[in-house]
Amino acid sequence: MNVEGKVIVVTGAARGIGQEYARYLGGIGARIVIADINDCSNTLDLVKAEGGTATAAKLDVASASSAMDMAQTALDAFGHIDALVNNAALYGGLKGGRFDSISETDWDAAMTVNVKGTWNCCKAVVPAIRQAGGGSIVNIASLAATYGMPFGLHYTTSKAAVIGLTRGLARELGRDNIRVNAVAPSAVLTEGTREFFAEKTDKALDTIKMNQAIARNLTPSDLVGTIHWLVSDASQLVTGQTIAVDGGTVMH
Ligand SMILES: NC(=O)c1ccc[n+]([C@@H]2O[C@H](COP(=O)([O-])OP(=O)(O)OC[C@H]3O[C@@H](n4cnc5c(N)ncnc54)[C@H](O)[C@@H]3O)[C@@H](O)[C@H]2O)c1
Repeated sequence: MNVEGKVIVVTGAARGIGQEYARYLGGIGARIVIADINDCSNTLDLVKAEGGTATAAKLDVASASSAMDMAQTALDAFGHIDALVNNAALYGGLKGGRFDSISETDWDAAMTVNVKGTWNCCKAVVPAIRQAGGGSIVNIASLAATYGMPFGLHYTTSKAAVIGLTRGLARELGRDNIRVNAVAPSAVLTEGTREFFAEKTDKALDTIKMNQAIARNLTPSDLVGTIHWLVSDASQLVTGQTIAVDGGTVMH
């Protein structure tokens, strides 16, 4: 599971789970490109405090040209790219509700950031990973898609699209020795979760927990081991998969 020296782009790493991916992977020797629409200086400090190496890149995943600029920033800093963790998403900023109460603006925003954003970052980074001889892409999906979360259909649908994108792209990129997998976490205690569920947060977290075989809510640190494995060569022939890190909620 050695990732020492690997160059790993983590999108949406200014806060929350993405920040923890960056901190952890930086701490075990990977070189991290911290990419976010928001200021990443806090994450940069955390990686450096772990003795890690990182650079920050301003990124709006919804923009193809911004994604290309981010890939160039990564290449300028480290010369090549080995892996991409597509973690950026509209989650915290979205408003839940019945399927017919979701505004068209929110629906379009979820699709643009969560689906097109994932595609944009893959397009931007794949040429460099290919050039490096292969690597790994990890797309962050959600239990929302694998379970079928109600009252947030724009989010649920966008994350289901991420799983479809993962499967198709895995078949396209196998010949380049690029693996593409998804991770589907259960609810994680983050600012984003508090924003998404608002006053219903505690009730939602309790309900989700009670559906897990291991009945405790996740923290960001519960996810890093799976991401570590997927970006490392230890998962060499694993591609096109959606790995559930959900305490045993959805079982295939
Ligand atoms: N927290 C959970 O319970 C949970 C569960 C399952 C899946 N997920 C997924 O995990 C990921 C992280 O979740 P989180 O709770 O840390 O979310 P969050 O809302 O706290 O963080 C999302 C990050 O993405 C960034 N971002 C948003 N739009 C962007 C854009 N257009 N371009 C670049 N960056 C952008 C934000 O600035 C933020 O740093 C998301 O993909 C989310 O959908 C979260």
